[in-house]
Amino acid sequence: MANFDKKIKRIGVYTSGGDAPGMNAAIRAVVRVGIAQGLEVYGIHAGYIGMIDNQIHPLQLGDMANIIQRGGTILKTGRSLEFTKPEGRQKAVNNLLASKIDALVCIGGDGSFRGAHALWEEFKIPVVGVPGTIDNDIYGSDKTIGFDTAVNTALEAIDRIRDTAASHDRLFIVEVMGRNSGFIASHVGLAGGAEEIFTPDGNTTVDKAIDHIKEGIARGKSSSILITAEGQKPGRAYDLADSIRKKTGMDAKVSILGHQQRGGSPTAADRILASRMGAAAVDALQKGYCDIMIGTEGERLIQVPLDIVTKNEKKTQMDLISLANLLAT
Ligand code: F6P
Repeated sequence: MANFDKKIKRIGVYTSGGDAPGMNAAIRAVVRVGIAQGLEVYGIHAGYIGMIDNQIHPLQLGDMANIIQRGGTILKTGRSLEFTKPEGRQKAVNNLLASKIDALVCIGGDGSFRGAHALWEEFKIPVVGVPGTIDNDIYGSDKTIGFDTAVNTALEAIDRIRDTAASHDRLFIVEVMGRNSGFIASHVGLAGGAEEIFTPDGNTTVDKAIDHIKEGIARGKSSSILITAEGQKPGRAYDLADSIRKKTGMDAKVSILGHQQRGGSPTAADRILASRMGAAAVDALQKGYCDIMIGTEGERLIQVPLDIVTKNEKKTQMDLISLANLLAT
């Protein structure tokens, strides 16, 4: 954690990386709390892309009307390769200084926070991070904005798949998002009664999954659902289906849920989390704290240095998977 002693008058807010339901609620909180505290709040379009392209515009209270329930991000988002280079960052900082932005709130995932940390380390621009990603893979926070909505969206799809799987006595492999993390997979796997859950880190094997399916069949089960996290690239479910077919002759239907998990109206839990975190980010800046992320520990909001957030990996809760396996027997 770092401190700065400059009195701030104008802050910027941006969303960066993959969008997540609840980002709008976080933007709304930053803008409305900031203005209530006498600050001017500017929105930066599409994260680091707009910082480099100088798309930085004032936001008013009225701009925040009717957005708390909307998925996506009204500020747009993106991933900027240029910002990973020193010249890109210099361009961005020149624009921030020209717009007289004293401090920033960055709503995004760990890639976005690496950028935020660099802004403080290299240019002493104070930034506070708010974790917004459906993946829930941010070290230092139990929950990230968007995760609850994504899990519920995926679960709704899985429940529907279960209806058709049961009607046809079929095996389904459902692939959920999460890139290198298994949080969505483990949560929807437990909540959706999956027979096996594959996380990206090789927690189980196709042989074990086949054993679980066969044990189920022996007990009279006629349909099964396996959940897999996508891993590095989407399509892992097809590889698993091929492998099961080759080993057993069983046919598996594949359903890749994909980007629908990123959209939709945020759940109450995500709106509340986003509102609290957005407000806490502004409060932290007002107190002169920066280079931190607002995280959660249970129900409590905490502040975690960005350095620690970005250098550590949050591990998938394997106990949820063991429980899911036990309960699916
Ligand atoms: O990080 C959020 C996420 O949705 C991951 O779960 C997924 O792997 C990735 O973004 C997809 O990114 P894109 O929308 O750029 O394809």
